[in-house]
Amino acid sequence: MAESVLRVAGLTRSFRTDGGAEVRAVDGVDLVVERGSTTAVVGESGCGKTTLARCIVGAIGPTSGRIEIAGTDTSGLRGGALRAMRARLGFVQQNPIAALDPTMRVRDVIAEPLRTHGTLRGAALDGRIRELLELVSLRPAVLDQRPGELSGGQAQRVAIARALSLGPDLIVLDEPTSALDLSVQAQILNLLLELQSRLGLTYVLISHDLDVVAHVSDQVAVMYLGRIVERLEGGRMQAAARHPYTLALFSATPTVGADRRQRIVLAGDVPDPAHVPSGCRFRSRCWLHTRLDSPAVCAEAEPPLSGDGSGHEVACHFADREPAQPMS
Ligand SMILES: Nc1ncnc2c1ncn2[C@@H]1O[C@H](COP(=O)(O)OP(=O)(O)OP(=O)(O)O)[C@@H](O)[C@H]1O
Ligand SMILES: [Mg+2]
Repeated sequence: MAESVLRVAGLTRSFRTDGGAEVRAVDGVDLVVERGSTTAVVGESGCGKTTLARCIVGAIGPTSGRIEIAGTDTSGLRGGALRAMRARLGFVQQNPIAALDPTMRVRDVIAEPLRTHGTLRGAALDGRIRELLELVSLRPAVLDQRPGELSGGQAQRVAIARALSLGPDLIVLDEPTSALDLSVQAQILNLLLELQSRLGLTYVLISHDLDVVAHVSDQVAVMYLGRIVERLEGGRMQAAARHPYTLALFSATPTVGADRRQRIVLAGDVPDPAHVPSGCRFRSRCWLHTRLDSPAVCAEAEPPLSGDGSGHEVACHFADREPAQPMS
């Protein structure tokens, strides 16, 4: 069996809003990521993707649940041990330019993790920085620039170089292409794929774009209001998708969703996360719920994420219905 780099179990992270309400941005997430693979996390804005990412890389602590990195439970770690663990994780944050310290030169942005956690100094450190630049196809001239002087694509390459600097066990990529122009998006995605095959990297790839993830992921977790509502294998995900939310996401995705018969338009907005609907949290926007004349079970019981052991799991009381097509 493949070695798992990341194991997340029952992860919950709450925030208190200004009004005093509790928001569970991440609400009971389980995730296992094998070494050398890509796991995508997809879902609409506000579903908890960045919060999940920040918990995984240790930028914030979980409210409850367990995170294991390469077999080590991170919850008991403090001080130096925690810093050493965080050094094994690369994080490419949403919005590349904003994520890089505007006052630092690119040289220092890339060197910072190496100086803090590594042993290289002087010429050896310089050599490593140049090696990283080469990996992300940047010219040495950028080393003396500041993030504000870079294009979005260049800034993202710098962020990737920084994430690679310590040879991480896992790299978490939070919407790595969504802030970029279309042509640049493809370049960055190709770079990430090339680096993965050259260096054997493990990715958690966060995206709201099924088009991006459908082609590059081994495993896809679909999130809605803090929870995983469907887990699929990457390759066959479109044919396998069963959750009404996943089907709606597919139908809104021009290329991969093209053979769906009709576009599904979800009713209303994502509910306020401080007031999650009872039972199935997707119920208030679910086209299937409406089509089945609003069965009571959807309001009464939260459907568990369950499957047949093949790796495909769905959290819907009506996941076994036939056929899977959304519209009649
Ligand atoms: N520091 C915080 N304080 C209070 N609420 C927060 C905080 N961070 C996130 N939230 C709330 O948690 C929920 C999830 O936010 P998060 O940023 O994780 O979503 P996301 O899926 O990354 O969205 P996007 O696609 O827009 O990046 C949102 O309702 C958000 O308002
Ligand atoms: Mg986000």
